[in-house]
Amino acid sequence: MAVGWLWGGWGDCGDLHAPARAAVSLAPMTLAARDILELREAFPALARRRNGKPPIYLNNTCMTLRPRVVIDALRRYYEEFPTCGGGRSEGAQKLDNWFQDELRVYEVAAREAAGRLIGASSADEVVWTRNSSEALNIVAHGLRLEPGDEILGSEREHNSNLVPWLEAERRLRERSGDPELVVRRFFELDADGDFDLERALAAITPNTRVLALGHASNLDGTVIPAAAIRALADRVHAVGGVLVLDAAQSVPHRRVDVEELGVDFLAYSLHKMCGPSGMGVLWGRYALLEQLDPFIVGGDTIADTWQDRVDYKRPPGRFEAGLQDYAGMVGAAAAIDYITETVGYDTIRAQELALNTHLTERLAPLQCDHFWLLGPEDPARRGGVLTMSSPSGALINAIERIGDEEANVMVRRGMFCVNAYLHRRFDRLGSSKNNLRASVYFYNTLEECDVFADIVERVVKSPLDHFDDE
Ligand SMILES: Cc1ncc(COP(=O)(O)O)c(C=O)c1O
Repeated sequence: MAVGWLWGGWGDCGDLHAPARAAVSLAPMTLAARDILELREAFPALARRRNGKPPIYLNNTCMTLRPRVVIDALRRYYEEFPTCGGGRSEGAQKLDNWFQDELRVYEVAAREAAGRLIGASSADEVVWTRNSSEALNIVAHGLRLEPGDEILGSEREHNSNLVPWLEAERRLRERSGDPELVVRRFFELDADGDFDLERALAAITPNTRVLALGHASNLDGTVIPAAAIRALADRVHAVGGVLVLDAAQSVPHRRVDVEELGVDFLAYSLHKMCGPSGMGVLWGRYALLEQLDPFIVGGDTIADTWQDRVDYKRPPGRFEAGLQDYAGMVGAAAAIDYITETVGYDTIRAQELALNTHLTERLAPLQCDHFWLLGPEDPARRGGVLTMSSPSGALINAIERIGDEEANVMVRRGMFCVNAYLHRRFDRLGSSKNNLRASVYFYNTLEECDVFADIVERVVKSPLDHFDDE
């Protein structure tokens, strides 16, 4: 069943039983196992056992595990100063009680850390959100678009960077009275899912007001190079548009600098980088945040109200309605410090490359008969992500179920919120819904990858008749 190759995938299916060629030419540096073990000790969840076995957590693209320093930071808020904050954009006024004064120090430091992480010039450019999805919704709702304006993205945007723009399109259709009005357009990626700058540049028109791009893919791990983003930003600015970067899958894995990239808005999620669940960031250039209409409004977004009108706070306060996740802010600062100071992006990169190279070398030879791997062949271009796709739902089910039941392996199956892309590319091959993703982070080990690969190998080599298809 060598269907993967119809779309230009990789692997040599001409000889199904030939040994795989080396996946990469360079030998990745493997971190000393000792260092990884030391890092792993910081994660209480890794000390758990079920049926006498540890968890094998390979679902890091969705959400990572949390180290004790982050858990302690969350607890510090609840134990020491569990009150409402207030040190937001209207700034420096002294709060009036003990707990609030203490919380404010953490609040201010957390916002600064969240901005510094991505090279923001001011903490006032940082809006706390629940996640990247909310951040992207704030931008899609807040930009003042007119009928005739165009929104551009790639064919593989995550639903969180697609649906808010489809909603913007729907609103513009209603306003214009033209139900056929095309507002959102997309450009194609390479056959192997990698980014093609020329195609993206060519898709920008004089009407492009928004280029909304995913920086790194949660499906196959491919990343848009910094120079390409810069070139796109320059082009989109030249036609009067803005570049909105969905950095949910890049900030947790690599250094991202908004000035170097030249982007206008950026979204990332702390829960994908050892931070608290339900914490995200919208960053925007201050002058653009000032022009953005607030989306969710009410308490804490306003400077003053009267019966018939409202004065909003300056950004970022006007975007943060109601009481906030103050524990989350304290935890976010701890996570950022942990990732940048204790672990470091170099360690993250080196370990992901070593693990993904190993996984690829184990699984690539098994392709063709039953499944294929998505994305470019070279694991160095796929971050910490390895996704299998198959026309057989039974195969994918079996790997997931056996992994969970026998070895506590946690992976993810499904469409990973890139339904539109998978439908477009893989419906005709019958595989769009049958995907299984293993995604590693710095605390994973080669041994864990081997447990998963052993299970894949066993399932692929066994008759599948007795497995359910759904
Ligand atoms: C590329 C990408 N964008 C956006 C999101 C949405 O992130 P969140 O669930 O934190 O809103 C995800 C989540 O997996 C993602 O992978």
